[in-house]
Amino acid sequence: MEEKRKKWPIAIDLFSGCGGVTEGLKQARFKVVAAVDIDPVCCKTYKLNHKKVKLFKKDIRKVEPKDLLKLIPDGQELDLLTVCAPCQPFSSQNRHKGDDERTPLILESIKFIKVLKPRVVFFENVPGLAESYVFTDLQTALHEDGYTTIDPVVIDAADYGVPQRRPRFIYLASRTKESISVPRAVTPGVKRITVRQAIGDLMKLNSGERDPNDRLHTARKHKEIALRRLKYIPKDGGSRSSLPDYLQLECHKKHNGHKDVYGRMAWDTVAPTLTTGCTNITRGRFAHPNEDRGITVREAARLQTFPDEYEFYGNLEQVATQVGNAVPVNMMKNIACHIRSHLRG
Ligand SMILES: C[S@@+](CC[C@H](N)C(=O)[O-])C[C@H]1O[C@@H](n2cnc3c(N)ncnc32)[C@H](O)[C@@H]1O
Repeated sequence: MEEKRKKWPIAIDLFSGCGGVTEGLKQARFKVVAAVDIDPVCCKTYKLNHKKVKLFKKDIRKVEPKDLLKLIPDGQELDLLTVCAPCQPFSSQNRHKGDDERTPLILESIKFIKVLKPRVVFFENVPGLAESYVFTDLQTALHEDGYTTIDPVVIDAADYGVPQRRPRFIYLASRTKESISVPRAVTPGVKRITVRQAIGDLMKLNSGERDPNDRLHTARKHKEIALRRLKYIPKDGGSRSSLPDYLQLECHKKHNGHKDVYGRMAWDTVAPTLTTGCTNITRGRFAHPNEDRGITVREAARLQTFPDEYEFYGNLEQVATQVGNAVPVNMMKNIACHIRSHLRG
């Protein structure tokens, strides 16, 4: 087994977070040798699950590429470098994105590409990245370094084995002879995995209750007014438009936006895009399809396709942040399997 494992393609995960990408890569039989992330909570989760990977818990600007180079086994090349820089600077929901200091972080990947010379580079972000100056700079640098790139594409994680609508910007660069592409959808249309399939078997909970066997399956304790509102939201996909006037929020009476808040997920379709606020019913369509509560972090982790055995460090708020920021495991696994075939030529 160990002999076979040595032949697994080698990968390095930049901006590794709690490890969604690494988990997907491992499931696609890549050997991840190093990862970089600055966040101490994410790093604790990462270490709990990926003990053998050398994790650099540091600002990426302070990591020396030569320290990562040392970790590539003799006689092997780096097959894949993954770069999932923070997406908030490019998100349509960020009103302050013009002055976000995280904007240029993705360009830090260039110094690693120059030294590590990965055969393939994978970038994942939100669609807004394509409109930023950093994308033009990135493209230019990759071409100068001899990489062939694809036209960036926006895919929906729901088409790649994830029970969640999650538009993602995918950009690939390769220095292999064959041109690289993004894989075709594996779960399009009716094959999509539904909310019911993902979370339907979990223990029923009321507001504030927890599954005694699973600390992550703990329902938020909602205020009386929130519970009263939830009672009026029709089961299985209902929204706040069904609230009687006296229960409408003042701010919602005045404008037409934020239609998803207090909304329920629907059983037989995919979930909406999970964010760091994914267990908070005032932050999006994050109420359970038929129980009067927000989804739990266990449910969120399932909707992001983390296996139940995946361990999360931190309190429930911190876990929700890690899960909401993660790259869905199944999406990464499906893309990584495709990259693996490309690497084999
Ligand atoms: C989109 S999340 C990564 C998700 C991760 N790839 C996964 O699959 O779970 C972006 C990550 O960038 C990290 N980050 C932000 N600024 C950073 C910096 N200066 N250096 C290193 N990591 C940074 C954040 O801590 C966060 O975990």
